[in-house]
Amino acid sequence: MSETVYPVPAEIAANALIDNEKYLEMYQRSVSDPEGFWGEHGKRVDWIKPFTKVKNTSYDPHNVSIKWFEDGTLNVSANCVDRHVATRGDQPAIIWEGDDPSEHKVITYKELHHEVNKFANVLHACGVKKGDRVTIYLPMIPEAAYSMLACARIGAVHSIVFGGFSPDSLAQRISGCDSKVVITADEGLRGGRKVPLKANVDKAVAGLSVDKVVVVKRTGGDIAMKDGRDVWYHEEADRVSDHCEPVEMNAEDPLFILYTSGSTGQPKGVLHTTGGYLVYASMTHQYVFDYHDGEIYWCTADVGWVTGHSYIVYGPLANGATTLMFEGIPTYPSPSRFWDVCDKHKVNIFYTAPTAIRSLMGAGLEHVEKASLDTLRVLGTVGEPINPEAWNWYHDNIGKGRCPIVDTWWQTETGGILITPLPGATALKPGSATRPFFGVQPALVDAEGKILEGATEGNLVLLDSWPGQMRTVYGDHERFVQTYFSAYKGMYFSGDGCRRDEDGYYWITGRVDDVINVSGHRMGTAEVESSLVAHPKVSEAAVVGYPHDLKGQGIYVYVTLMAGEEPTDELKKELRDWVRKDIGPIASPDLIQFAPGLPKTRSGKIMRRILRKIAEDSFENLGDTSTLADPAVVDDLIDNRQNKH
Ligand code: WTA
Repeated sequence: MSETVYPVPAEIAANALIDNEKYLEMYQRSVSDPEGFWGEHGKRVDWIKPFTKVKNTSYDPHNVSIKWFEDGTLNVSANCVDRHVATRGDQPAIIWEGDDPSEHKVITYKELHHEVNKFANVLHACGVKKGDRVTIYLPMIPEAAYSMLACARIGAVHSIVFGGFSPDSLAQRISGCDSKVVITADEGLRGGRKVPLKANVDKAVAGLSVDKVVVVKRTGGDIAMKDGRDVWYHEEADRVSDHCEPVEMNAEDPLFILYTSGSTGQPKGVLHTTGGYLVYASMTHQYVFDYHDGEIYWCTADVGWVTGHSYIVYGPLANGATTLMFEGIPTYPSPSRFWDVCDKHKVNIFYTAPTAIRSLMGAGLEHVEKASLDTLRVLGTVGEPINPEAWNWYHDNIGKGRCPIVDTWWQTETGGILITPLPGATALKPGSATRPFFGVQPALVDAEGKILEGATEGNLVLLDSWPGQMRTVYGDHERFVQTYFSAYKGMYFSGDGCRRDEDGYYWITGRVDDVINVSGHRMGTAEVESSLVAHPKVSEAAVVGYPHDLKGQGIYVYVTLMAGEEPTDELKKELRDWVRKDIGPIASPDLIQFAPGLPKTRSGKIMRRILRKIAEDSFENLGDTSTLADPAVVDDLIDNRQNKH
């Protein structure tokens, strides 16, 4: 396979924070002397009481424990807001671009300070105290950032739930961390359509013990307010002062919980803490995007995902950057929206998901050609592997061949980017996340956990901790140990497969567990299965991913019906709607195949390997089917496989 290599462009190299020589030198030090390296870089944030201990971590499955800067104290909101007010009070902190192109707002650091203080006092007035959990279910409006920072200011732990999740999914995530306060908006606005956020909250909290629902007015739509429980944010804000002292937090005090899908069971609450997370989010934001003071930086993610946490809010604001926050979708009012916004706000750094690039690529070049895009300097991608075709399109048409693309590999669990090019240091290969960030020690292992050397392929593990790593699964440390540290002794297992080439570049090949990645969103196949089997007509269900041109992976569902039920197209629609309503639109199955039986071993275990192969159309190498209880089911599955188009 011939592979194009793109060297660092000369204009980038001339001004970059890190060149290749510096990368190699810093990387070497970061892994040979992590204490010294992080002791130094830990100082990039303001500490109330400076740390004297740097790293105290163990991957021993009998005693997994991760602590960074453990005797230091700080406040995240003071770092993201207060410390910039004196030096850059009038600089935009957030540029907010509404769903409707006629709406935008610029929030300076001074204004951000005012808003965050107000919001913090409103939370106090609602009875929120240090250590309490607060669930945030907001659209992409500035209040999302204010409320996160307000929680951090008073030491409350936020748990953001993506606005696309259903009332049931929301309820699960509220009760999972026992939040007594929920922050939402009357309605969200996406692509010109209203999202009934408050109505969803009403359904979700019925039956839960939630004391207060704080409602931000976004659309002014008609909603119900429950006396004694629901309060309007703007009314409460009028009553409180705009001064709230940031609380002194220990480096290892929780900052947030974020629910994410795993290969088994229900979503788990990934817990991130204060000091290490902030050091890592801010450092990666600065170096990975080669962020220079005064630049306009835009990450198109939603704050409901980890990318929004680390690279819309915490990383950029800790660095005193200007971060653009976009309420809408890439294709509204037309597929030129992203590029129009880049021109309108003179965006220098643009970070998005491959799935968005693929869909805009499909919309045609005429939507790009109207924009000049001449302020762009660095491009990024995140969330799923990027196919070289999409990479090239992005590079040539958006970056006009002059902007490096940082393909950033990381996870909710990692808190920040782990494998990535640095714009001024790394020659690029389309489709490769290239090399580890400072302090990150990736390795590839075989099924037995043996470390593989050189150019090879295997399961991606990390051999040592970095400051942004998750600390535990909220309320279930055992699950944390089981999920990440039990497969390979002494290593963190990512769940991803990966190839390493002759140059030591990493190429993520996708999940090797029962997690699928649909349009850059993580989905546990077990979650979709449990939703399906809850339908009265479904007896059994198995869910696998299959290659999908736009989404990266699509959701392929095998369903066995209860005796006597008819396998009709109407029923397929009913099942699709069922999952959509139960989990949310992102979990909606793409293809449903009715199967009289599923391939099982004699002990009754479903052989997913076979189901995956059939969904992928690769019937030739189904592997050994002789252990199946009834090999004939496979022929039926193949004969009735669903078409992709
Ligand atoms: C996948 C998103 C290939 C991977 C930040 C990982 C990627 C999962 C990349 C985490 C990339 C993320 N190339 N695959 N650059 N970035 N992934 O938790 O499978 O939503 O394990 O975090 O997305 O998804 P999560």
